[in-house]
Amino acid sequence: MNPKGVNLSDVWWDVSPVRHAKCNGRNGANELPLKVLDRVIELSTDEGDLVFDPFGGAGTTYMAAEIKARRWLGIEIGPTDDIVQRFAEIEQDSKILDDQRKELNALFSAQVRVARERAGWWTCESVRVADEEKRQRALNLG
Ligand SMILES: C[S@@+](CC[C@H](N)C(=O)[O-])C[C@H]1O[C@@H](n2cnc3c(N)ncnc32)[C@H](O)[C@@H]1O
Repeated sequence: MNPKGVNLSDVWWDVSPVRHAKCNGRNGANELPLKVLDRVIELSTDEGDLVFDPFGGAGTTYMAAEIKARRWLGIEIGPTDDIVQRFAEIEQDSKILDDQRKELNALFSAQVRVARERAGWWTCESVRVADEEKRQRALNLG
């Protein structure tokens, strides 16, 4: 992550399980979200590095590695048709990753921010506005 951005904690509470019906049908594999592999690969490799995942499953590691310009190598004991098909539709995963990366270094995702606003809880934006109002009041008093 950006060294000037949000710290990445040990527990990644912002990652949801893959629930999309189409994805869940893949291989019956316990598919990891692209977000997890995006982070793992981003944190541990540079472009052109080789990523090895010996438990292919739905091929999320390979997909993330491919999109992120890493070389990759994999093994899967079960069927790999779904991985091959996934690569034929790589633009779908590419778009998912692009959309996720737009929210990189944001404390709350757009969805969480809206939910917090609706609940009347603080958001980064509300704190900024409150801070600015405080600063203006202080200037006016001075
Ligand atoms: C949890 S899934 C991996 C999910 C994958 N990382 C993803 O997100 O798409 C584990 C996979 O490892 C495979 N597997 C288990 N034992 C294996 C072995 N000895 N050699 C190769 N693959 C194996 C299973 O068939 C299963 O598809």
